[in-house]
Amino acid sequence: MRLAVAALLLTSSFHAIATSVDSQIPLRDAGSSSKQCPADVELSCHNTRPVKDACCFNTPGGLLLLTQFWDAHPATGPEDAWTLHGLWPDNCDGSFEQYCDRSRQYNNITDILQAHGKTELLEYMSTYWKDWKGNDADLWEHEWNKHGTCISTLETSCYSDYRPQAEVVDYLEKATEVFKGLDTYKVLAAAGIKPDPSKTYTLKELQDTLTKLHGVEVTLRCRNSQLNEVWYFFNVKGSLQTGKYVSAKPGGSPSNCPARGIKYLPKRRKSRPTSSRRPGPTSTRSSPSPTGTGNPFSGRGHLEVITGGRKTGCLISYGTWYSTGTCATFTATPSGDGFTLSSSKGDCGILESVFECDTEMKPSVFTAIDGMLAIGGKTTFSADKVPRGTAQVPIFTNGHSIELTIGWKQV
Ligand SMILES: *[C@@H]1O[C@H](CO)[C@@H](O)[C@H](O)[C@H]1NC(C)=O
Repeated sequence: MRLAVAALLLTSSFHAIATSVDSQIPLRDAGSSSKQCPADVELSCHNTRPVKDACCFNTPGGLLLLTQFWDAHPATGPEDAWTLHGLWPDNCDGSFEQYCDRSRQYNNITDILQAHGKTELLEYMSTYWKDWKGNDADLWEHEWNKHGTCISTLETSCYSDYRPQAEVVDYLEKATEVFKGLDTYKVLAAAGIKPDPSKTYTLKELQDTLTKLHGVEVTLRCRNSQLNEVWYFFNVKGSLQTGKYVSAKPGGSPSNCPARGIKYLPKRRKSRPTSSRRPGPTSTRSSPSPTGTGNPFSGRGHLEVITGGRKTGCLISYGTWYSTGTCATFTATPSGDGFTLSSSKGDCGILESVFECDTEMKPSVFTAIDGMLAIGGKTTFSADKVPRGTAQVPIFTNGHSIELTIGWKQV
């Protein structure tokens, strides 16, 4: 556990903003309140006593990241604002859990917010919580399903008079509230760092400026040397819903921006290209031929799962295995010595040994061996069980009990 953390209380401006949010948007619904936590509750990742109540102490995900996008191509959101990506619970060592409760995955977030009377929040989210592909609710659902379900203080058992999905509303509301206290655009602009195609910036000047806002370092993420994301880290004294947020040093993946020559490009407004892909490694179509002979992975196709010599379902767009229903369409794009894959959810890659496709994913380069999908020269993937009914199962690159291979069916 990391103990040497410069714990810095958030500035009063943050609290002022938080308070004004509270007055506009009631934090809780009548009849559904999260637990009152004792005043001496410890700071997440810094407890000196064993955790007794995971409703008042975020565990194991005690390092919370407020992540923001700067999406210039295609441009999303206002030209003078970064947009909200999500609020993620990392473990105290920087590792993280995801998709923690499949029974609380929702695809009707807009309905949930409306049912809870959160029209102002919905309006705010529609402006500042943007999906670059144009379907904002997809991103909100993804953030809740992947990250929100892993937050211990949002378990439904933490609520008295629980009203269905109150915790989803709390998650979205808190992410929005913390986001409002971190105006990345304004702080950079005040330091003379403005989007400008003719300029480049150093990692240090960006870091130093945002460190002034946050009190401690932040993590910056680039795509093709273009500034694309910022991650602000917090520990929380109390629950996600009502606790005090304390700035924390970064954990997990470090900044991947070059030391210098970082571009901060203006958002250029165009008509929305609904089917175009985010420019990135996968759209480099310069390398002509992928793997040697017999690589069937080209163009658009389905990823079919084969167990015991038989086709047993296929992958759906997040990269999980599904045995019934419609197969997702993936796009294979030549890259280096192999190819990358993407679905409607984003680029596909391997994260913590899990095959996954989403907007956060750094694309992996796959190859084909004897017509089957391979990563690192291996065609064997695995899962914990064969999915039945509407269940989806994650696919791993390391040894879980069911072995499988993945083929391609061009469409
Ligand atoms: C959202 O979906 C869930 C699960 O399918 C359902 O239980 C809930 O009633 C829905 N909520 C609204 C407001 O439509």
